[in-house]
Amino acid sequence: MKQEKELAMAVHAEVTVPRTLYWVGGVDGHLVLIDQTRLPVDFVEMECRTVETVWEAIKMLRVRGAPAIGVSAAYGVCIGLQTVAGQAEGPFFARLDEVVKYLAESRPTAVNLFWALDRMQRVGHQLKGRKSPAEVAELLLAEAHAIEQEDREMCHAIGRFGAELLTDGQGVLTHCNAGGLATADYGTALACFFAAHEAGKKLKVFADETRPLLQGARLTAWELKQRGLDVTLICDSMAAQVMREGRIQAVIVGADRIAANGDAANKIGTYGVAILAAFHNIPFYVAAPSSTFDFGTKTGADIPIEQRDPREITHGFGRQTAPDGIGVYNPAFDVTPAKLIAGFITERGVIRAPYVETLARQLRSATAKSA
Ligand code: MRU
Repeated sequence: MKQEKELAMAVHAEVTVPRTLYWVGGVDGHLVLIDQTRLPVDFVEMECRTVETVWEAIKMLRVRGAPAIGVSAAYGVCIGLQTVAGQAEGPFFARLDEVVKYLAESRPTAVNLFWALDRMQRVGHQLKGRKSPAEVAELLLAEAHAIEQEDREMCHAIGRFGAELLTDGQGVLTHCNAGGLATADYGTALACFFAAHEAGKKLKVFADETRPLLQGARLTAWELKQRGLDVTLICDSMAAQVMREGRIQAVIVGADRIAANGDAANKIGTYGVAILAAFHNIPFYVAAPSSTFDFGTKTGADIPIEQRDPREITHGFGRQTAPDGIGVYNPAFDVTPAKLIAGFITERGVIRAPYVETLARQLRSATAKSA
């Protein structure tokens, strides 16, 4: 693959990596995304010029990972408003509400989606009666750019705090992909590994392949390799054995939504990894920006879990691997109870239990949603 060759040469220098998503042009512009369903074999960028294309890209995981979904949706709002920017206030704000509602139906679990959409809708409505629809459209594009830039800054801060928890020579494990591809840049869980690596700490990273859609194998392994980290891919079922062999000193994963009590939803299989880590006395950390904390959701039991197409399990990647007509259950996420989490690595530092108090004290002012 062309990009990989070029990037391999940049390892250990200032590493150049492709942008997960970016906006091209002004208020009439469009969103460009890496189509992550094509990685790691093909590097293909897709252009989103309609709100339906953004919805489909989120639904089909062409763009995925909680923060990246939120940023994409914010730009999706801008695209959805392009047809009404020259119209009167009535149709403009009706369209804003319609587009927000439509994008909110793309995926249910990652709260960053709703956080970004709420923010765009709130900012838009605050300008009602004070600015023309054309001016509101401009200001909403500026808001989407701000959401993207803030995410980038939060991820780099998470990396700095996370790296302090890691020491030279450690083995670390992650599940799914919480890297640059899942955010505006740099990632959350992977940011900790990247920052440690940049600080000269040699880590041995184990990446769970992450059934059924293989975000670990396709995306995490790709990103870590691109940045020159020592990465070993394992099947999800191998994590217990790898821990028993003493190869893992810390686990860091991302999150899609963290409830007020610290229960954390992340990719299916994360809960099992947390139990394995507890059994082997390995600290299990969750790295996430404040936009992933949902103080309106009291516990993990209230987090909606996305159910996905059974064919992701029976016909993964173009080959039938189960009998015709077999019953399938395919929840995309699970919830790790707060008591299994050693700490949350956030842009405001590492937050430790008791989470009901510490999360509210340190993060609540930074989040839009509140109980
Ligand atoms: O279904 P996905 O690929 O969107 O799931 C992604 C995850 O579970 C990530 O770990 C999570 O969104 C955190 S990304 C920084």
